Amino acid sequence: MDNRAVGVFDSGLGGLTAVRELRRLLPNEKIVFLGDTLRVPYGTRDAETLREFAEDDIDFLLSKNVKYIVIACGTVSSNLPDEVIASVPVPVTGVISPTVSAAVSSTRNGIIGVIATPACIRSGAYQKGITAADPSIQVLAQSCPRLVPLIESFGVSELGSEIDEALEEYLGPIRDSGADTLILGCTHYPLVSHRIRRIIGREITLIDSGAQAAKTAKEALEASGSISSRKNMPKHEFYVTSDPDRFTSSSGYFLGEALGRATLTTIGK
Ligand code: DGL
Repeated sequence: MDNRAVGVFDSGLGGLTAVRELRRLLPNEKIVFLGDTLRVPYGTRDAETLREFAEDDIDFLLSKNVKYIVIACGTVSSNLPDEVIASVPVPVTGVISPTVSAAVSSTRNGIIGVIATPACIRSGAYQKGITAADPSIQVLAQSCPRLVPLIESFGVSELGSEIDEALEEYLGPIRDSGADTLILGCTHYPLVSHRIRRIIGREITLIDSGAQAAKTAKEALEASGSISSRKNMPKHEFYVTSDPDRFTSSSGYFLGEALGRATLTTIGK
């Protein structure tokens, strides 16, 4: 038993998709969430910058005495060198391998689409993971540079036709390929899954990368006997590096429930 919190981080709102699933699976676990909203988007950064940002995010969560870290960001998960993860003094789960496993088990016709940020697609992490699990699977990987900025801009502007146009452009080739499984490889994307579904169709299975990471975290906490002994619902903590009010209201809009107020913090040098 371990009553310390589970730490979750992302560049912004997307990490809440992992938080949503963690709360559902482990309602008595306290969560400390960090969204690096000052430096979002991460998906257009180079690997060195992503490493620096990820180290800042991890250091912040460790300063909150977390027992476990969920990297609820496809961009960081796919670019962070193994040695950085190995140096973290608590267990860490990213989104790539749980998501790949779920997609490989889901496909029936052996065609998987992947949508993610430019840095994530460039890393090839999803593509390599799928091919390593089953070389016969055909993978269609699509970089989607416009989606995170559009989702994060909600609250300044409405989510309107611009996002549907971007989704049509990104999803068209995957729809035409006949893929039966689509990896939402960036944790922001499940926040607009109804729009994605409208464009890609009802038949395809959508794999939510944040939710898969949460599931893996639950299994790991159970396996190591680190589940909390709390009997009541804990008060979670949400931190962001800019504009806490917008984060609070956007998270309510996207998740359909109020999560509690976000607190402004500074991280890094
Ligand atoms: N949610 C992050 C991811 O999964 C978004 C990265 C970004 O800020 O571009 O990749």
